[in-house]
Amino acid sequence: MAAKQDVAENTDGGTVTAGTLRAVVHEEYGPAEVLRLAQVPRPQPADGEVLVQVRAAGLDRGAWHVMTGEPYLGRLAFGLRRPKNPVLGMELAGTVVALGRGVSRFAVGDEVYGVGRGSFAELAVAKEGQLARKPQTLSFEEAAVVPVSAATALQGLVEVGRVRAGQHVLVTGASGGVGSYAVQIAKALGAEVTGVAGPAKQDYVRGLGADHVLDRTREDPADGTRRYDLVLDIAGRPPLRALRRALAPRGTAVLVGGEGGGKLTGGMNRQLRAVLLSMFVRQRLAMFVSIVRAPALERLSELVESGLVMPSLTGTYPLDRAPEAMRDLVAGRVRGKVAIVPGDGGL
Ligand SMILES: NC(=O)c1ccc[n+]([C@@H]2O[C@H](COP(=O)([O-])OP(=O)(O)OC[C@H]3O[C@@H](n4cnc5c(N)ncnc54)[C@H](OP(=O)(O)O)[C@@H]3O)[C@@H](O)[C@H]2O)c1
Repeated sequence: MAAKQDVAENTDGGTVTAGTLRAVVHEEYGPAEVLRLAQVPRPQPADGEVLVQVRAAGLDRGAWHVMTGEPYLGRLAFGLRRPKNPVLGMELAGTVVALGRGVSRFAVGDEVYGVGRGSFAELAVAKEGQLARKPQTLSFEEAAVVPVSAATALQGLVEVGRVRAGQHVLVTGASGGVGSYAVQIAKALGAEVTGVAGPAKQDYVRGLGADHVLDRTREDPADGTRRYDLVLDIAGRPPLRALRRALAPRGTAVLVGGEGGGKLTGGMNRQLRAVLLSMFVRQRLAMFVSIVRAPALERLSELVESGLVMPSLTGTYPLDRAPEAMRDLVAGRVRGKVAIVPGDGGL
C-alpha cells in the first residue's frame, strides 16, 4: 500500500507551480461568460484520493449544468447560492502525481482516466474508485472524452436497458456525447442500431456505425414505421406516448436525459411519470443517474482496446478557450465530444 507523498512537480511542462495552478473557474452561476482563467490553490488529495496532473479534460453536458446552476434542483449538490467548487470539469485523463492515504490501486506516474473534481485545471483530485488506467492505445485527449459519456451509454444500454444481440435499438441524440458512444456500444453488443440526429450530423452518426440514421427535423421515429426493442432516449424529450409508440409491445425505453425541461427540475417529472407508468403497462420505462466507477471504466477500456469503440473526440481547446468550447457545445456545433487541454494561455 502506498504512503501519502508530497506532490511531485511537473517534469515536462514546467507549468505546475508549487502553490498555485491555472484553472477555469466560475464564482457565480450563468452562461459561458462567467468562466475565467485564474490561479487557484493546489488541491490536496484526501484519504482514498489521488492528485492527477490533468493532460486533458472532457467537456460534457454535465459541466454546462454545473456552470449555469440549472436545473436549480442540481444546486442542492453544486452549491445553493454559488458553486461550492469554483473549478469546473469532471472528466479527465492525466498522470498521478500524489496519493492520499489508503490508495492502493495507483502509484505516482500512472496514466489514468476517469472522473475528478475540477478537471478544467492543471491539477485535479479524484477518488481512486472513479479512475482506471488509461488505455494505452489512446492519447490523453481521446481518453478524457470517454468517462462520463461512455459510462452513461454503457449503463443505459446494458444495466438498465438489458440490451441483447439482434435487438433493434433506437438512439436519440446519437451525434452527441452520450449518443455517439451508445451507437458504438450497441453495435459492439450485436444490436441493429438506428440513430437520430440533426441534418448536419447524419454522416457523423453513419460513421459511428449506425445501420440507419433518421433526420430529427424530417423523420419521426414514433411514426409506426418501425418498433424498437430498446429506445435510449437521450435528447428531444418526446412525450411518453410518442416514446411508447416507438417501442415494441414488450420493449424498453431508457430515459437518459434531454434539454429544455425547465429551470427548476429540468423536466424530472417526465422521468418520474415514466417510472410510474411502467408499473401499469407491458412496456418497460426506466430512468437512471449514472455514476462513473472503475469497473465501468475498465469495461470501456476493453471495448476501446479491442477496437470496438472509438473515442468520440472531434476537437480540442486550450484551457483559456474553455468558454468558447462551452458556447460551441450549447449551440450544437460539437459532434461527439471535445477536450479542454491545459496548455499555453495567458491569464
Ligand atoms: N442520466 C444520466 O445520468 C445522464 C448522464 C449524462 C448525460 N445526461 C443527459 O443526457 C443528455 C445528453 O447529454 P450529452 O452529453 O450527450 O449532450 P450533447 O453532447 O449536448 O448531445 C445532445 C444531442 O442532442 C441533439 N439535440 C439537440 N437539440 C435537440 C432537439 N431539439 N431534439 C432532438 N435532439 C436534439 C444534438 O444533436 P443533433 O443536433 O444532431 O440533433 C446533440 O448532439 C443531456 O440532457 C444530459 O444532461 C444524463
